[in-house]
Parts: sequence; C-alpha cells; structure tokens
Amino acid sequence: MKKIILTGDRPTGKLHLGHFVGSLGRRVELQNSGEYDKIFIMIADAQALTDNADNPDKVRENIIEVALDYLSCGIDPEKSTIFIQSYVAELTELAFYYMNLVTVQRLQRNPTVKAEIQLRGFAEHGEGDDNQQRKGTPVGFFTYPISQASDITAFRATVVPVGEDQEPMIEQTREIVHKFNSVYGDTLVEPQIMLPSNAACLRLPGTDGKAKMSKSLGNCIYLSDSADDVKKKVMSMYTDPDHLRVEDPGKVEGNTVFTYLDAFSRPEHFEKYLPDYENLDALKAHYRRGGLGDVKVKRFLIAVLEELLQPIRERRKHYEQHIEEVYEILRRGSDEARATAAETLADVRRAMRINYLEDRELIERQAAEYRK
Ligand code: TRP
Repeated sequence: MKKIILTGDRPTGKLHLGHFVGSLGRRVELQNSGEYDKIFIMIADAQALTDNADNPDKVRENIIEVALDYLSCGIDPEKSTIFIQSYVAELTELAFYYMNLVTVQRLQRNPTVKAEIQLRGFAEHGEGDDNQQRKGTPVGFFTYPISQASDITAFRATVVPVGEDQEPMIEQTREIVHKFNSVYGDTLVEPQIMLPSNAACLRLPGTDGKAKMSKSLGNCIYLSDSADDVKKKVMSMYTDPDHLRVEDPGKVEGNTVFTYLDAFSRPEHFEKYLPDYENLDALKAHYRRGGLGDVKVKRFLIAVLEELLQPIRERRKHYEQHIEEVYEILRRGSDEARATAAETLADVRRAMRINYLEDRELIERQAAEYRK
C-alpha cells in the first residue's frame, strides 16, 4: 500500500512555534525523508469558515499567510502538494454521504468539539437576549469532524501528522472508515495519527506560561516575527515566579523557558552558544541549585530559536516578493488535489451503488425488465 500523508491548518492567522513543533516541522522532515509516496498539505479554509461565517475576510487574507509560512519552513511544492480545501468540491460531497454514518450523539461526545464549543461561547446565553436563548453552535462547526474525515480519506491518507488536540478527529475518521467499509465494502483507507514524540512539542505553552499558544491570548511567537520581536518576547517570558535573585534555587517544571528548550534545543547548541554546559540536563541542574539567572537562559533560548527562525525569515522574504507565484502554486496544487479526490469520490459512489449513470449493468437490467 502507498504511504500517503495529508494534513493541514485553518487559515485564521499566521503560524507560530506551536504549529511548528506540533506538526509543521515534522512535515518538512517527512517530505525530505523521501519515504512517502505523496504528501498533501491543505489550507482548511472551509473548516475555518465553520466558526467564522461572519468574517470571511479573515480567512481570505490568511490563505497567503499560511502558504508563505509553509513555503518558508521548507515545504517544497515540487515534493508536496499544497492546496485550498474549498477548491476541492469533492470533499463536501463525501462529507454529505459520511454524515449518514455518524450520529449526533457521537459528535456530541467528541472532546475537541466539546471544548471548542465552550471556548467559543456557543453554549452561552447570547448578549442582550432576554429570551434566555443560547447563541447556539453552527451546524457546520458541529459537523466539522465529518468534513475532516472527508479531507483525510479523499486522499487515501495513511498517516496524519497533527497536534494532540486533533486526536479525536482522527479517531472519528477511523470510525467512519470502518463503518463505510463494513456497510459498502472495502473502499476507504484507515489513517494513523502521527503525534510529536516529545512532551514539550505535544503542547507548547504560550510565552505567558498558559497551556497553549493562541492568537487570542497574545502569547505566540510567530514564524514570521522579526529577530527583534523574538528577542522581546523571550525576554518577557514567564519563568519561575519564585526565582527572584540569581542565587535562588529555581524550578524547571512549568518554567516556560525550559519547556521551550526541551522542544527546541539540541546538544550541538550547547557547544555553539553555551559551552560551559554539556547539555540541557546540566543547565537545568545548575538552575535548580541556584546561581543561574533567567537572562542567561533566555539569551541561550534566543540563539537557539534564531538558528531555526532566521532561515525561515529569509525564505519568507523571498516568497513575499513573489505573491503571484505563490497563488500559482496553490492553483496547481488545488487542481491536482481535486483530481485525486475525484478518483476517491468515484470509488465511493460505486461502492454506495449511487453511480447510476455510469452503471451499465443497472441500465441494461432495467431496460430488459421493461422490454419483457
Ligand atoms: N482541524 C485542523 C486544525 O484545526 C485542520 C484540518 C482540517 C486538518 N482538515 C484536516 C488537519 C485534515 C489534518 C487533517 O488545525
């Protein structure tokens, strides 16, 4: 069986370090490993619209930002297919059929959807609403796990590299595949999730120490941030609030600077930027003992991040001067994605026996019956 990757992001803002360690960096490695027959990377604009119906301009403006972020991280359009979800109409048709295989109750149990409904306030009372009506959850939003199953199965993806919060989506996709194949015969490919291997990468906290980098919390380091911004953000990062003087012993657990070092630093970085320490364990030990100041650790983190971000920034500058070309890449990718999804849709329609107009057997049998 072919090894195929599909993954993607909602275009609601520029991508940040959380995206990078959660999935984007991995995609580039997988692309360059040459081990995969095909890699599809999707800009999930239709999914972004499920909770941005009143703000299509936000999605419209961010397609290019996400595309620029992909290209500047090293996604190579010669090796990977980058495309726009809404330009592959076949995906919506697949979702329409999959909807019949999923219950409302099952969707209500999806933990990510549940959490997002809370986060977006869909379950709360609407403002100034004296009927005590709830704002309500858009149906498209509620059913986006089904649409995500279409995204994944349309490309016969075997592997989906995503962050931890996407696990329930992949689980639900697998259930849909099972159900489809058992009802209509073996047709769809069951995908595997690929999560980051290191705990710090699984969920990178914001610079304020909050659980997650999130645009609305203003705690992100963006891939497109300038060196100056990165420096400022790291210098004001949350550390150990009880580590007041350099001599004080410090805590490494829950200390965001160390969590970032867990995610980004490698032994070579010590040799290069902080040769007094052999590795991260040695640095942590000194911090715990006391006598190591936050500023020194932060300066090291800045050097480590700059080594990653500087080439990304350079490539971004190049592509920013070639916006028309980037849109051409998206057009070509979307055409190719559409052709692939159309093949799967034809298989699905055949398996579901709704390919009436292509089905000679059906037409001839009924014709013969009526001739009798
Ligand atoms: N839900 C993903 C996110 O919010 C984006 C996405 C849409 C996706 N369809 C997908 C990811 C299919 C992986 C596979 O980031």
